[in-house]
Amino acid sequence: MKDLTARTTAAGSTARRRRVLGLAGLAATGLMALPGASQAAEEVVRSGHPTRRDIAILRFLAAAELVETDLWQQYAELAVGNPAYREALEAIDDDLPVYTVDITEDELSHAEFINAFLRSVGAEPVNLDPFRTIEPPRVQGLRPTRRLTNLTALTIDTSYYTRYQSMRNPDFGATFPQIATIRDQPAIPTADGLSDRILAGIARVAAFHFPSIEVAGTSLYDQFVPFVANRDVLRIVSSIYATEAIHYAIFRDSLTGVSAFRSGDGKLIVPDLTEGGHGSAHVMPKRCDFLDRRFPTCSVIRPSSQEKAGAQAVARGLTASNLFKGQSPAFFRALSSLARAADGGAA
Ligand SMILES: [Fe+2]
Ligand SMILES: [Fe+2]
Repeated sequence: MKDLTARTTAAGSTARRRRVLGLAGLAATGLMALPGASQAAEEVVRSGHPTRRDIAILRFLAAAELVETDLWQQYAELAVGNPAYREALEAIDDDLPVYTVDITEDELSHAEFINAFLRSVGAEPVNLDPFRTIEPPRVQGLRPTRRLTNLTALTIDTSYYTRYQSMRNPDFGATFPQIATIRDQPAIPTADGLSDRILAGIARVAAFHFPSIEVAGTSLYDQFVPFVANRDVLRIVSSIYATEAIHYAIFRDSLTGVSAFRSGDGKLIVPDLTEGGHGSAHVMPKRCDFLDRRFPTCSVIRPSSQEKAGAQAVARGLTASNLFKGQSPAFFRALSSLARAADGGAA
């Protein structure tokens, strides 16, 4: 990781040098003295080499996309190769199995594209292969290869559901209640031959996990937008951002097929969201406070502040969900280093 960081830092100073040279060139031609010069200088940054921060943002996003790919891959393998699990998902929404396959393709394309772009500008791509250390459960349909993520003991923050139904914004300090209780629960089968009732609980955990991942990804991309300097990097961040929002919207809609469930130990309690229960039919985001309360409320992605949705916030949230349960200390060090740099701090 040190080596990677050093190379990124080197790429960053090259970027700074190029920016300085570019500005010097403008000054020499007299452009800097003309009205609109700051706009011209801005253009140099936008069309020139990505800045050090741009690279750090893309590197964290590459890591996030590799994590997304890893978890969706497990869901897709099971949706295709484990009929009992597939049926439990279909009982919530007929389309869930095919969505898991399609979204795995999307996430893989995000990771591959960002890493290819990083390479093209002389920056180090992100490789998380050394951290594929987690043994998945030995169950029908799931390949016995080691993974980055653990889907067997998830604690899911389900407040995204109430957040988007509220006119208040977490960036202004608002907090939101959970719609379900999901503590230390498997989202995939942990053994073959589980009862239909146990599988019904597992499928509900998965159905709540799907939008929770995509809603965090949407806010993560959104909050990076104001920090991007280079035009191509801006296009990458804003274009992938939109597909993450589509993912969230689709999986949020699937929750309208979730009926009530309660486990004996009370660690899994899900309300009835069918027939419009708990406002489930209102899938569109409400308008909320945005930017400054002097303005009218506005229907936007929330949160979009670095504090609530930045790389370090996302890394903390994913870690708290037990998605990385069993990962090595080296993995968490690498993740925090990438996250700090993306948030504009030292790697
Ligand atoms: Fe993605
Ligand atoms: Fe995604």
